[in-house]
Amino acid sequence: MAAGGVILEVEGVSKNFGALAALSRVGFAVSQGQVFSVIGPNGAGKSTLFNVVSGLYAPNAGRVVFRGREITGLPPERINRLGIAKTFQITNVFPEISVGENVGVAAQSRSAESGRLASLWRRPRRPARRAGREPVARRAAVPRDLPGARDRADAAPAR
Ligand SMILES: Nc1ncnc2c1ncn2[C@@H]1O[C@H](COP(=O)(O)OP(=O)(O)OP(=O)(O)O)[C@@H](O)[C@H]1O
Ligand SMILES: [Mg+2]
Repeated sequence: MAAGGVILEVEGVSKNFGALAALSRVGFAVSQGQVFSVIGPNGAGKSTLFNVVSGLYAPNAGRVVFRGREITGLPPERINRLGIAKTFQITNVFPEISVGENVGVAAQSRSAESGRLASLWRRPRRPARRAGREPVARRAAVPRDLPGARDRADAAPAR
């Protein structure tokens, strides 16, 4: 189901863990609007592939091109800002903030209020309380049609 031009290209990507070749010259292209699945048995290298594409691992060989720009080896936060997001196989939440704020963390990573220094000092770049300016995590909209979302947004996440 391709709807546009190529948006993601993976070319000859290899990733070794010591003597183990988790990925060996993997290549494919994904078109804009296409639903593209990667399937394989346990240990086939699916997560390793997604970790290379999202910048968690640098490949030993090959390149990843997103929207015509090579992103091979860029750190995950830069790749995220270019528009690639991933979820983890084992999900985790920040236990000390609410369900709604956990949802908002993803939105905050794409906002102007989440610079490195702002993160270090644990405060937004601009004064958050100034006339209606709430930190993104607080004002992120939790989808109200999610089952239980209306009741759970302010609750502590289950561990
Ligand atoms: N950080 C790592 N260090 C060493 N070996 C690793 C590491 N990550 C993955 N591997 C190995 O690389 C191979 C591919 O693992 P990967 O997790 O990518 O497979 P997968 O297809 O996602 O499997 P599953 O279906 O179980 O999620 C496996 O042999 C795994 O043990
Ligand atoms: Mg996996």
